[in-house]
Amino acid sequence: MKKIALIYGTRHEGTTGIAEKIAEILIQNGFKVVLQNITNKFDSKNFFKNDFTGFILGSGIQMGKWTPGMKKFIVKNRGHFTKDGVKLGMFVSCGTAHSSDGSLKACTEYVDFFAKDLGVTPDITAAFGGIYDFSKNSNLNFAIKFVLKSVVKKETPGQFDLNNVNDFRNWDDVVTFANNFSALF
Ligand SMILES: Cc1cc2nc3c(=O)[nH]c(=O)nc-3n(C[C@H](O)[C@H](O)[C@H](O)COP(=O)(O)O)c2cc1C
Repeated sequence: MKKIALIYGTRHEGTTGIAEKIAEILIQNGFKVVLQNITNKFDSKNFFKNDFTGFILGSGIQMGKWTPGMKKFIVKNRGHFTKDGVKLGMFVSCGTAHSSDGSLKACTEYVDFFAKDLGVTPDITAAFGGIYDFSKNSNLNFAIKFVLKSVVKKETPGQFDLNNVNDFRNWDDVVTFANNFSALF
């Protein structure tokens, strides 16, 4: 059974659901999946003792950036992702990708440029919508919420509920990405 490592970074947990959905589809397609949330403290020493035939790397985006933990992990372990025969998928989850035009833009800005900069060449890429949680239970602090609300009000008037959770994760696109990744083998 082919083994895939699905490695992701998140700040507010929106990307966790996406990574779990991709894992679910890969398992349905007959792969063994190791799902790993990478924090800054993650120790990758024993991680690559597994013989992976494919990797999927993903992150939520904040201020245009992948999580620092993911960036560090990719730089440190680049050799594993560029080996002959190994398949690589990369994705982000972000606000820009809340529409299909936005997804293309986000894919270029947050996946293609990032991958090139770090010297990895993904076989498949995607940008999925993310979550803006403006509800009372949100884990965003008051100042961040205030700034984000002003940005979305200005850039996309009327498209966000400024008092509730806005979940733009497009599950059909997530499933398509997972199936397309599976088809690479
Ligand atoms: C403080 C903050 C900054 C953000 N900056 C960006 C950004 O620069 N570009 C973007 O497309 N989305 C941005 N977003 C939207 C996030 O990418 C979106 O909320 C995503 O779901 C975050 O993923 P996570 O929950 O896994 O951390 C931002 C969100 C927050 C809270």
